[in-house]
Amino acid sequence: MDAETFYTDHWRHIEDDRVSRYEQMFVWREAQLALLEGAELGAGQRVLDIGCGPGFFALGIAGVVGDAGSVDGVDINARFVADASARAKDRPNVNFHLLEDHRLPFADASFDRVILKNVLEYVPDVGQTLAEVFRVTRPGGRAHIIDSDWGFVLVEPWGAERTRDFFLAAAPAFREPYIGRRAAGALRTAGFSTARVKISAFADQQGNGLGVLTNMCGYVKTFGHMPAAEAEAMLEEARAAVPEGRFLFCLPQFLVTAEKGA
Ligand SMILES: C[S@@+](CC[C@H](N)C(=O)[O-])C[C@H]1O[C@@H](n2cnc3c(N)ncnc32)[C@H](O)[C@@H]1O
Repeated sequence: MDAETFYTDHWRHIEDDRVSRYEQMFVWREAQLALLEGAELGAGQRVLDIGCGPGFFALGIAGVVGDAGSVDGVDINARFVADASARAKDRPNVNFHLLEDHRLPFADASFDRVILKNVLEYVPDVGQTLAEVFRVTRPGGRAHIIDSDWGFVLVEPWGAERTRDFFLAAAPAFREPYIGRRAAGALRTAGFSTARVKISAFADQQGNGLGVLTNMCGYVKTFGHMPAAEAEAMLEEARAAVPEGRFLFCLPQFLVTAEKGA
């Protein structure tokens, strides 16, 4: 893959082992409702989930909006869209669509809520995508972004400097690795009248974040900004630290809710 377009190519063409890892990582958990609080989801709403992946999150949202509402999910990966559609085959009000580019296949003002969870960091142009989000949100509706900021993460026992070096070496996997801090400003630029930022942080001592670190290690090896053996050794060090009680992973999520003026 071309290093310049890796950030999008690695989603369009996804390996089987990553699909199964993501199916485990993205499985719906009721606790995720807390990440959606700012969106104020409710029964009967029409919701769009951009970057829907395998569809678990969209199906979780469908449980909130109920049969009177609807959920559409869009993604650039054909396998995710097909798998998500199969998961929703008995849900006529949940539909998934393949995206070719930033353009959303919906009329203006089609949605009460537009959700973007861990996807804005990968889009080719944040401004173009958010202009489309603004267009399809109805006046008085909301956009809600949930995303990371890869300059705002900690991993023990790596220490601050090695953690920074590791994530800098992985950063080209993202078009915008620091989207967390930029999201509110970008929503205002797109035309939303307000954008509130909250941060949700969880201290993982059990090793749940090892899946994320494994993916990151793969990215580090792709770009060659850190020797592969060093990245592998860091991952192994993190794994070994879990049973010894020396592991700590914290990747705060930025929860950014914007309103479109009525
Ligand atoms: C980290 S996953 C998040 C999946 C899902 N939102 C979740 O949190 O469970 C990122 C998703 O964004 C999709 N994606 C990447 N670039 C995209 C783009 N330009 N437009 C829409 N989806 C994109 C990927 O295919 C992948 O499904």
